[in-house]
Amino acid sequence: MTRHKVIIDTDPGQDDAVAILLALASPDEIDLLGLTCVAGNVPLERTQTNARIICEVAGKPETAIRAGCDAPMRRPLVTAEHVHGKTGLDGPDLFEPSMPLTDGHGVDFIIETLRREPAGSVTLCTLGPLTNIGSAFQRAPDIIARVKKLVMMGGAYFEVGNITPAAEFNIYVDPEAAEIVFKSGVPIVVMPLDVTHKVLATKPRVDALRALNSRVGIFTAEMLDFFERFDVAKYGSAGGPLHDPCVIAYLLQPDLFSGRHVNVEIETQSELTLGMTVADWWGVTDRAANALFIGQVDADGFFDLLTKRLARL
Ligand code: BDR
Ligand code: CA
Repeated sequence: MTRHKVIIDTDPGQDDAVAILLALASPDEIDLLGLTCVAGNVPLERTQTNARIICEVAGKPETAIRAGCDAPMRRPLVTAEHVHGKTGLDGPDLFEPSMPLTDGHGVDFIIETLRREPAGSVTLCTLGPLTNIGSAFQRAPDIIARVKKLVMMGGAYFEVGNITPAAEFNIYVDPEAAEIVFKSGVPIVVMPLDVTHKVLATKPRVDALRALNSRVGIFTAEMLDFFERFDVAKYGSAGGPLHDPCVIAYLLQPDLFSGRHVNVEIETQSELTLGMTVADWWGVTDRAANALFIGQVDADGFFDLLTKRLARL
């Protein structure tokens, strides 16, 4: 079994929370070196608080959590309280976490960790805007060749956009950071809306999590009860899409997913299509492939994995 050394970069968010729980429930496969928080779904002050709440709910207060960037590299922050609620984690009763943040800036931690660990051994999992990673790559280009792989939730091709008609939220919030990442040469796996919109937390699936009858199971079900209302109203779907947990599930069981190696470029100029992931799915250019762009998932297999793993916490 491969044990991945992982940094999770995140902006929790209910779906980020489920991704973090899935990682914390899987220590045999995931050696979590630390969480780095970024501004995204809600401002940084709230994303770092939410990350600490989640680790306490999981019974893992020893997890290292660092705060990173509080705004995109070159733009004002855009947030998504309309999806995630005022706290970013609306649904369950929230509390003030007692575990502390770990000292140091998230970007410094990413740089220092990649310099310290053997080259090619650390996987970056990104669940939010790419500000921390773009900043680290810009400040310390020597770390780029040391990254094993970057697995991200972001972008879309067939589903086009969720925050604008053309762009997915994580890429839209910091397109300059996304451009740095896609041009970096790091091996990238992308979980776009095309696949995450197939991973729906339907009522029977959420009820199966609730039926775990544990603190984690009930907390997760209450988050997802809240989270579904936005997408159900918008798309008429049968439940909220579990975007970010796809990233962790890919590390645990990559055979649940399939996609194509394609070229992906980020639109950073056009007002109309800012943050669009222009994926050459049909191979109509000679631009070199820079990402594995996922399109298909075994959604039942995904929920089976998620439910069994969360039962361990
Ligand atoms: C992405 O944006 C956020 O709202 C979610 O947490 C996910 O990372 C989906 O577009
Ligand atoms: Ca997220």
